[in-house]
Amino acid sequence: MIIAIDGPAAAGKGTLARKLAEHYGYAHLDTGALYRAVASRVLRAGVAPNDSAGATEEAQLLDAGDLLAPDLRTERVSDIASRVATVPGVRAALLDFQREFARRPPEGQKGAVVEGRDICTVVLPNADKKLFVTASAEVRAERRWKELAAGGATVSRAEVLKSVVERDRRDEERAQSSLRVAPGAFLLDTTKLDIDAAFEAAKAFVSGQN
Ligand code: DC
Repeated sequence: MIIAIDGPAAAGKGTLARKLAEHYGYAHLDTGALYRAVASRVLRAGVAPNDSAGATEEAQLLDAGDLLAPDLRTERVSDIASRVATVPGVRAALLDFQREFARRPPEGQKGAVVEGRDICTVVLPNADKKLFVTASAEVRAERRWKELAAGGATVSRAEVLKSVVERDRRDEERAQSSLRVAPGAFLLDTTKLDIDAAFEAAKAFVSGQN
């Protein structure tokens, strides 16, 4: 069983994916973390953000330890991640890993919940269940700001909104794997839903009740 979830930044797809994976006993893959790990490597290696060959090389060298980098959730890494995600070589390097995870989830689990910007459209178009999770930019920025503030970051709401809008633009406009709703995907708008309500709606869809 493969559940694929995509949607824009900070729409709540991560929390939703984790909850679904826990509920059904499936493996969970946050593919944004892969792009973040590449970005973290790019920063550590001193590769220029616009050096496509350098970023591709870092993506090819990615290993499990990179997913534990302490800077993975910082705004700096978020920004570089959305840049390296526009590089075709980086996307190609990460594609096989993502498909293989879905096909053969670790520890013999019976299914996988895979989330990210292009999971339903490009990575796993034949997934059993596809969800597009979204919310207004303002609501998404507010959620991201609360997360950052809880982690001790001193960033303003306006800055976070600006960076969410900027990342949306980059995700939507890039030539490869741009953000869009896949055919057959269930559109889940969480603007007015809290996480419990969103989870109930997602569960109802996965179990075929809506
Ligand atoms: O979801 P996130 O903020 O952790 O993702 C980090 C960046 O990686 C974001 O700018 C979009 C990009 N990304 C992508 O292009 N494709 C994916 N499947 C997942 C993330």
